[in-house]
Order: sequence, then C-alpha cells, then structure tokens
Amino acid sequence: MTDYHARQMHLINRPAGLPTHADFALVETVLAPPTDGEVLVRNHFMSVDPYMRGRMRAIGVYAEPYALNKPMYGGAIGEVVESKAAGFAPGDIVLNQGAWQDKLVAKAASLTKLEPFDPDRLSLYLGTLGMPGFTAYVGLLRFGEPKPGETVFVSAASGAVGANVCQIAKLKGCRVVGSVGSDAKARWLLEECGVDAVINYKTCGDLTAALAAAAPDGIDMYFENVGGEHLQAALSVMNPFGRIAACGMIASYNNAEPAPGPNNLMLIVGKKIRINGFIVWDHSDLRPAFLADMTAWIQDGKIVSRETIVDGLENSVDAFLGLFTGDNFGKMVVKI
Ligand SMILES: NC(=O)c1ccc[n+]([C@@H]2O[C@H](COP(=O)([O-])OP(=O)(O)OC[C@H]3O[C@@H](n4cnc5c(N)ncnc54)[C@H](OP(=O)(O)O)[C@@H]3O)[C@@H](O)[C@H]2O)c1
Repeated sequence: MTDYHARQMHLINRPAGLPTHADFALVETVLAPPTDGEVLVRNHFMSVDPYMRGRMRAIGVYAEPYALNKPMYGGAIGEVVESKAAGFAPGDIVLNQGAWQDKLVAKAASLTKLEPFDPDRLSLYLGTLGMPGFTAYVGLLRFGEPKPGETVFVSAASGAVGANVCQIAKLKGCRVVGSVGSDAKARWLLEECGVDAVINYKTCGDLTAALAAAAPDGIDMYFENVGGEHLQAALSVMNPFGRIAACGMIASYNNAEPAPGPNNLMLIVGKKIRINGFIVWDHSDLRPAFLADMTAWIQDGKIVSRETIVDGLENSVDAFLGLFTGDNFGKMVVKI
C-alpha cells in the first residue's frame, strides 16, 4: 500500500529582516495519488540556498515569490515511489524542484533522471555537480574569462559556489585569493583546495588593506558572492580592464532597509572594469560541458567538495538560517 502522507515546510509570513521560526510552519498533509504523466517522489536530500531568501519577499526580481501557506520549493534529490509516466519507474533517482517536502507528486517533465556516478554521494547533485557548481562554472568561465597567471578574488570562498570557483580558477592556471569567515574554512582552502591566499574578513581589520596585501599585483577578476565591503575592496585593488562576475550579494539579503553603496564606484570608469550580473538558469547551453568537466575533475581528484548535512525536514529552517551566519562549511544540505 502506497503511503501518501507527506510533510511540507510552508512560508506563513513574509519576513522583515532575518527570518525567524515564526515565519514557517511544518505541515502534514495527504497527497492525491499521481495521475497520467505524474510521479510520486520520496525525497532523500534537499538544498537550502541563499536565493530562497529573495523568494520569501512579496515581489521577485528574477524568480517567482513563494506563495504564503503553500510548500516552498527548490532543488531536491529523491527516488520514484510510484509512476504514471512513461520513462520513470520505482527506484529511479530524480532531481526535482520539491525541496522543503519529504514527498511530492510531480509532473514527469519537471524531473531529471540521474545516473549517479557514485550512489553514496547523491547530495553532490545539489552542490558541486548541481546548481551551485554550475553557477561557479558559468560565472567564472563565461563572465570571468580567467587567463593563466591572472589573480582571481573569490568571496564566500569556502561555500557551495565559492569553493568550486576557487578550484576551477586554479585549474585554469590562476592565482586565487579567497575571503571567508573562519580560520578553519581558510585552512581547508589553503590545504585541500590549493588556494594561494585566504583572508578571514571577520578578523583581518581593514578588508581593502588585507586584500591589497594578499594580492600584491592587484586582482584581475572578482567573483562576487557577498557585496558591500567586499565589492568596495575588490574595486580598490582591481587592475585596469578587470572583470567582475556578479553572482550574489548575500551580505544584503536580510536588510530591511537598503544598505549604503560602495563609495568608490567611479573606479569602474577609470579602471575600465566590466561587471556582469548573471543568473545560472539562463546558461543551460553550458550544462553538458559542465557535467562532463566537473564529473571528470571530481573523479580525478582535481576538485574536492565539503558538505554540511543537517538531519530532518524539521531542521530545514535552521539549515537555511545557517547560510547567513556561516554555519555551513561547503554546501548546506538537509537529509530528509
Ligand atoms: N547568480 C546565480 O545564478 C546564483 C546561483 C547560486 C548562488 N548564487 C549566489 O552565490 C552566493 C553564494 O551562494 P552559495 O549557495 O554558494 O552559499 P554558500 O557560500 O554555501 O553559503 C553562504 C555563505 O556566505 C557567507 N556569508 C553569509 N553572510 C555573509 C555576510 N554578511 N558577509 C560575508 N559573508 C557572508 C558565509 O560564509 P563565511 O563563513 O565565509 O562568512 C556563508 O557560509 C550567494 O550570494 C548566492 O545568492 C547566485
């Protein structure tokens, strides 16, 4: 007998500032069985990502806001339990958009069947082999255009996106400087990921001075994950014709009021700096190349990954909030 009971995390208030537990509710429900073209999926892992904070606002810039009193959603890895769709059978492992739910009925067209190269590392498809790894690949290679011998600066450098940016930039022959919020994260980047210099932005004092010291020849490319003071420092230390891949600005995601901007934006003109904002979803043309390259790099030991795995859908809000306090070391994943 198939069990259609499911648990879902709903957004019940639009947070002002940092979300709290009062903004979410864990809801039990009974799903309608799948009909033609649909599949019942039992999720094993879900992703929490910084972009989900934007979806909790009433107005979206590039992604639909989450509806109130409905399950939130996002990347998840699960197993087909029951299928009414051609091409899907019980036991198939699927990437789906049903994060924040332990079970869901999904249209087959919304699922990607995975043939994991290591069945014990399924969560990699939410990190290095998933959206964050792809974001690193697109942002660095399409917009950063790193050349051998150049210096690349990466903020949130040990995170899901950042750690992959650092390691791909090393594979491309660059000198890499990272910025992180703890000494343990700095050590990992230096010792395991081959990063050349790491700044702990929480303890370094003046960030611009610390970056100038870590990159004595200046930086040629900045992979922007944080914004604010990090952008200001990068502009100050950037060489003429530098490039910025503007991936995200997590330091501002919970601001109730707009933060003051960097006070040195005129450097963009004088140094002839190119800034490209990008959203990974627009670059699916690079996906086959990404999957081939990244799978080979992982198998050859050229790219290493860390994950922080939080147990239980009931703890998914804490996992999400941990992204804003640096609780994650590498990709933050919830095991459901
Ligand atoms: N454009 C796109 O398509 C796209 C796709 C995916 C992700 N992104 C963006 O990429 C960035 C990284 O995302 P991710 O999934 O890889 O997250 P992540 O780096 O794995 O996790 C977030 C990290 O950000 C750092 N952080 C949080 N608040 C900060 C603050 N106020 N100042 C400085 N650092 C702070 C923390 O690391 P520390 O301990 O080092 O402080 C935290 O661990 C985010 O800006 C995200 O929005 C963009």
